[in-house]
Amino acid sequence: MNPRLELLTAYPFERLARLKAGIAPPANLPHIAMSIGEPKHAPPAFVIETLRQNLGKLDSYPATVGLPETRAACAAWLERRFAVRVSAESMVLPVNGTREALFSFVQAMVGNAGGAHASNDRALVAMPNPFYQIYEGAALLAGAEPYFIDTTATTRFQPDLDAVPADVWKRCQVLFLCSPGNPTGAVLSLDFLRQALNLAERYDFVIASDECYAELYRDENSPPPSLLQAALAGGHDRFQRCVVFHSLSKRSSVPGLRSGFVAGDPALLKAYLLYRTYHGCAMPVPTQLASIAAWNDDAHAAANRALYREKFARVLPILEPVLDVVEPDGGFYLWPDVQRNDEDFTRELFAMQNLTILPGSYLARDSRGGNPGRRRVRISLVAPVDECVAAAQRIRKFLEKN
Ligand SMILES: Cc1ncc(COP(=O)(O)O)c(C=O)c1O
Repeated sequence: MNPRLELLTAYPFERLARLKAGIAPPANLPHIAMSIGEPKHAPPAFVIETLRQNLGKLDSYPATVGLPETRAACAAWLERRFAVRVSAESMVLPVNGTREALFSFVQAMVGNAGGAHASNDRALVAMPNPFYQIYEGAALLAGAEPYFIDTTATTRFQPDLDAVPADVWKRCQVLFLCSPGNPTGAVLSLDFLRQALNLAERYDFVIASDECYAELYRDENSPPPSLLQAALAGGHDRFQRCVVFHSLSKRSSVPGLRSGFVAGDPALLKAYLLYRTYHGCAMPVPTQLASIAAWNDDAHAAANRALYREKFARVLPILEPVLDVVEPDGGFYLWPDVQRNDEDFTRELFAMQNLTILPGSYLARDSRGGNPGRRRVRISLVAPVDECVAAAQRIRKFLEKN
């Protein structure tokens, strides 16, 4: 058995199930789940229809590199969305959702030359804290040391890159960024991304920029930028050391389709494609054809974004008098400071209101300043508008009584 498996922390939802075990919430209230980040809006009918019409194409093995048409649709979307032009042949690869790609990318990139390593030269993978748990698991299973860069209210929920010591950057092989951030909703500016790129050049590491919430943002006139734009602005038209991760799960509310893509540095993608070929994770052709339809259409993504905005507009006025909530720049989470133990808060809210949220400490790790998720909770606005409003009313009632 791979001994590194023992290094993995139980997934947040397993810990949540344990936290709720044995509690009997009021039976007269229907349960509302605001813990999971799974989009619940109706998927676009034309995407489902395209999938249905192409099911006959399951009769052949797909190529790992994907259909040229799939890569072209992803490249065209990048150009419309971010005004960056990438080569569909050498700078784009389809992936079965960003989750598997974030994981496998690290396996392909991290090298611990020679095998046995003293801790002072062991490979290191840096990531924001709190973070999407796959980053940590990917680092550990690749034999690297995860390094957590806190993102707190003090740092405006951005990783403070200046606070990271030079000896950490020297060992860093991959830096994860996430913008808009899960769970904080913070968007990293072009200036921030340029600073990260300068460090990547200076210390020779790769940046894996998780941009899977890039289509969900507050201000229609200010969409979150991509790392690829920062690279281009710095004169790196071959996106050296940059790989971005995009997904249809949130953009098109099709988390079950398992469809995304990676784009960026062609030298890195060539190595990653080789890895993927052996890993065996080609995207089925019907999925690719449905994905092309989804990437080619921006109207449904705008309508989807508008639905999330409506939820924030309806929910925030209910919560503001009792909770320190702000509308995030992107994504679909609230990340309030609940001024008390986040596990107790979550458990009691469930016990009294039959409403499930996620303790913030499950999404972060202890680092220099303690666990930055402590005393915060993640509230996911994925349910239909009316359900989100009902949930906000229950949270308010709970807080008024407690
Ligand atoms: C930050 C972040 N990255 C990646 C993913 C994975 O998304 P998918 O694999 O559906 O593209 C999620 C899903 O919740 C996420 O929150």
